[in-house]
Amino acid sequence: MPGLLLGDEAPNFEADTTQGRIRFHDFLGDSWGILFSHPRDFTPVCTTELGRAAKLAPEFSKRNVKMIALSIDSVPDHLAWSKDINAYNGDQPVEKLPFPIIADKDRELAVKLGMLDPDERDKDGMPLTARVVFIFGPDKKLKLSILYPATTGRNFDEILRVVDSLQLTAYKKVATPVDWKCGDSVMVVPTLPDEEAKKLFPKGVFTKDLPSGKKYLRYTPQPDDTHTSLLLSPSPEIGNIKYSMSQTEKHQEARPINTDGHGRERSA
Ligand code: BEZ
Repeated sequence: MPGLLLGDEAPNFEADTTQGRIRFHDFLGDSWGILFSHPRDFTPVCTTELGRAAKLAPEFSKRNVKMIALSIDSVPDHLAWSKDINAYNGDQPVEKLPFPIIADKDRELAVKLGMLDPDERDKDGMPLTARVVFIFGPDKKLKLSILYPATTGRNFDEILRVVDSLQLTAYKKVATPVDWKCGDSVMVVPTLPDEEAKKLFPKGVFTKDLPSGKKYLRYTPQPDDTHTSLLLSPSPEIGNIKYSMSQTEKHQEARPINTDGHGRERSA
């Protein structure tokens, strides 16, 4: 079956885009990458999604993530649609967006990457592209995929949140719990013995007691890391993305954390 599974290498396809012809691996270079597909140009949900993606482009760029969209129309259509997207954002109706859009007119890539939504068809009965998100690491391997039907728009703040988790957990022996946001406490991975965890996490490891007596809920303040410290430095707010210093500063000393069971500190 066509498609991509976690750990698969990104296919090194060639494609026409709104920013010229690309070869995917050259486009990605040494960066992280996000490829997100759309059913069709000049459709309402897609327009709101691409508008939000354009607004968040500086946040992706800060995280060293290159963005690229895909839709099954031509480059001239994409360029005309880009004007609408900029106008929707309240910006000048120009053809340029902060990322290229792949023109997959013959659905060649959509088929290869398993992106078609069988329930949504055009006037000729041809399936449209679903809302797929592929996130690739600098090794060009697939780290995360999300697949939504054409009728449900994605949440791009969530996509940014998972990038933060992917990047943190790629470099540190931690995992991020439910509803985690950058700056919250993280979990020590289950495979790491307690003694090693104490050495690896100098801010402390705090275990929550459970009826089973098993000590597997192990929290530690988010480890410092060049990537996330950058994100936690004060920056202009974009939409509802706000990363404050306060939570990290509170975690600078190793001390027991009074949590609400999700690794979040309770207010006093
Ligand atoms: C949209 O982007 O609005 C859309 C596209 C295909 C099916 C349903 C909605």
